[in-house]
Amino acid sequence: MAELFQPKKIIVTGGAGFIGSNFVHWVVDNQLDVHVTVLDKLTYAGNLDNLEAISEDRMTFVKGDICDAELLDKLFADTNAVVHFAAESHNDNSIADPEPFVRTNVEGTYQLLEAARKHKVRFHHISTDEVYGDLALDDPARFTEDTPYCPSSPYSSTKASSDLLARAWYRTYGVEVTISNCSNNYGPRQHIEKFIPRQISNILYDIKPKLYGDGLNVRDWIHTEDHSSAVWAILTKGRHGETYLIGADGEKNNIDVLHAILEGMGKDTEDFDWVKDRPGHDRRYAIDSTKLRTELGWLPKHTNFAEGLKDTIKWYEDNPQWWQGAKQATEAKYKAQGQ
Ligand code: NAD
Ligand code: TYD
Repeated sequence: MAELFQPKKIIVTGGAGFIGSNFVHWVVDNQLDVHVTVLDKLTYAGNLDNLEAISEDRMTFVKGDICDAELLDKLFADTNAVVHFAAESHNDNSIADPEPFVRTNVEGTYQLLEAARKHKVRFHHISTDEVYGDLALDDPARFTEDTPYCPSSPYSSTKASSDLLARAWYRTYGVEVTISNCSNNYGPRQHIEKFIPRQISNILYDIKPKLYGDGLNVRDWIHTEDHSSAVWAILTKGRHGETYLIGADGEKNNIDVLHAILEGMGKDTEDFDWVKDRPGHDRRYAIDSTKLRTELGWLPKHTNFAEGLKDTIKWYEDNPQWWQGAKQATEAKYKAQGQ
């Protein structure tokens, strides 16, 4: 384990999105002497309501683009560390239009790494297990830090590119980089384009849930709060230049997750539509997080998926004003794709 790093000022890119905002809340609640500056462009996926109730003495919000080198130069002059969540994050969108994915995920990460190099700022890069491609359903293997990169979609290939830039900036320029690749997150404030909140919001709108393909694709679910605590462990205790996989042993196929949502909302578990499969749809993701657990002593708290799902359903039921505005446009986009 590296010496403990104790930043007082951190920049969180993408802090108005799903995982970034959950991380900001986690830091504000658990690290009382840390000030957070959120840098977020507020795309369709960013929402300032995600950060409401955080006081100004704990957090500063800056609306801006991670591709804006001048802005980064100013912000990086006054920080100890950057935790980089900002991204275009949805596979289906990347298939419909890859351009913003290349720009934000690749060029944006490049600009941030350059600013970190100039200002000698510690850099934690947030990535996904999707960079490793997929596993067969009957394969006993799970992804490890040594699994070769083999991304399938425009989204995952741009995330893989950004990981490789971060690795190179460590090796060539000595930027103090760490990288984490996490499995599928669930929890409050996830955009309703994603699988779990799309189905919950469909049911609340009397629209039938939509299942792609044969429904047997497996995702390895982790509660977003566990992702946050893992990122903090890596930022403060991780070895520079290292990659850590984050996962909570939550493998489930989509049909089982959908059945659990329908049952949890008091509906007939077969009351959903089968829709067209996603092109290039990854079959299975599965994470072996032994390195993170043994080297940094991290453990997930939310090990009961049924409980976490129940709380997540309740959050969407209690906060319709948060998601209703995006519902029509999101479903129109899916309808045009036959999904
Ligand atoms: P999200 O789409 O909910 O949020 C992305 C945020 O980034 C938004 O607030 C958006 O406004 C901001 N943003 C986008 N482009 C920007 C730009 N050019 N400049 C500044 N801000 C910009 O995404 P998420 O699901 O919270 O994912 C966050 C990160 O975690 C991403 O890097 C993603 O690859 C990674 N990740 C996600 C998952 C998952 O299950 N969602 C799993 C593993 C890793
Ligand atoms: P998603 O939340 O888009 O995450 P990712 O593509 O990063 O894994 O999708 C999770 C799984 O759910 C994936 O196998 C695709 C599937 N899916 C559906 O079956 N129906 C849907 O409406 C959506 C959005 C996804």
